[in-house]
Amino acid sequence: MPLKDLKIRPIEWVDERMSLRWLDTRLLPWQEVYRETRDYRRVARAIVDMEIRGAPAIGVAAAYAMALAALHPEPRSVDELYSRLERARKELASTRPTAYNLFWALDRVWKRFVQELGRSSDPVKLAHAVLDEAKRIHAEDVETNIRIGREGAKLIEDGDTVLTHCNAGALATAGYGTALGIIRAAVEEGKRVTVIATETRPLLQGARLTVWELKKEGIPVKLVTDNMVGYLMARGLVDKVVVGADRITRDGYVANKIGTYVIAVLAARHGVPFYVAAPTSTFDLNLEGPNIPIEERAPDEVRTVLGRLRITLDDVEVLNPAFDVTPPELVTAIVTERGIIRPPYAQTIPKVVGSGRGA
Ligand code: MRU
Repeated sequence: MPLKDLKIRPIEWVDERMSLRWLDTRLLPWQEVYRETRDYRRVARAIVDMEIRGAPAIGVAAAYAMALAALHPEPRSVDELYSRLERARKELASTRPTAYNLFWALDRVWKRFVQELGRSSDPVKLAHAVLDEAKRIHAEDVETNIRIGREGAKLIEDGDTVLTHCNAGALATAGYGTALGIIRAAVEEGKRVTVIATETRPLLQGARLTVWELKKEGIPVKLVTDNMVGYLMARGLVDKVVVGADRITRDGYVANKIGTYVIAVLAARHGVPFYVAAPTSTFDLNLEGPNIPIEERAPDEVRTVLGRLRITLDDVEVLNPAFDVTPPELVTAIVTERGIIRPPYAQTIPKVVGSGRGA
């Protein structure tokens, strides 16, 4: 699907101004505000502050941020371009530590740059090669999501109620989405699907973003608070769980939004299939076991509701891990653009993801 045909385009490259434009997801669902910049540091800030969020979207934005660093101001020498890209890569890599697509995209852009260095000594041409790679990553992400959707839709039956957590939709990717891509594809095939969206404290990605996306497309959605999941499953009101991922290890440990692990435990307890949807760029084949780096965010995210309403004492100590890790034995299957991966993951993941990626 060409980028211009997407219903929701959270990230756009603006050729006329050689700038990056994105939808500020912090303000949804109340306001649809687009931001635009030619400054890669502004993109880094947008990632830290979660104007842009969701692992694949972070990867695409970081790739474009490298292009901005390369293009503005016009580089006068290869040395200058090299050190500018080296610095930008470092700064961008420190924005959000769990999302593997960030590191994957930065590596891919860097590798392309180094490859082009062997072919050209024109710094402007080299900067444009960096932009070209970012555009490829962007376009591929949409194609990847559509393939994930098509594969994952095979798991969804007509009449299913599917629970999802956080937002793994168009707003978390270049468009279409991973977990919500599966739901979109199932609906496009004519299946009737109802979605249960968990609100996803502390930053309410489910209540704000998943609900906004699904409502926009007329897909039936019911919002619940995070602590209602056990009751709903015990009552038989959830047929399947589909969530996204921030990082998946080579043996199938899945880091995703805090609260995912609780849902996976409950799903196992109640015999509800628990599916993870992710592009192969989310797999960290260098890592095994549960020790995935987990981002700890500012305490005020927990002490307040979106910074607007204080819900506790100002000086209470807070824990705010942004992600948790679900062990492979709780994951029924992982849907990728290369097909559905099933246990035993330590064998199946390297086979499916390792081929053609040189990890
Ligand atoms: O903190 P966030 O909002 O960036 O967390 C996002 C998630 O946990 C998503 O499920 C994950 O990045 C996959 S998005 C396709």
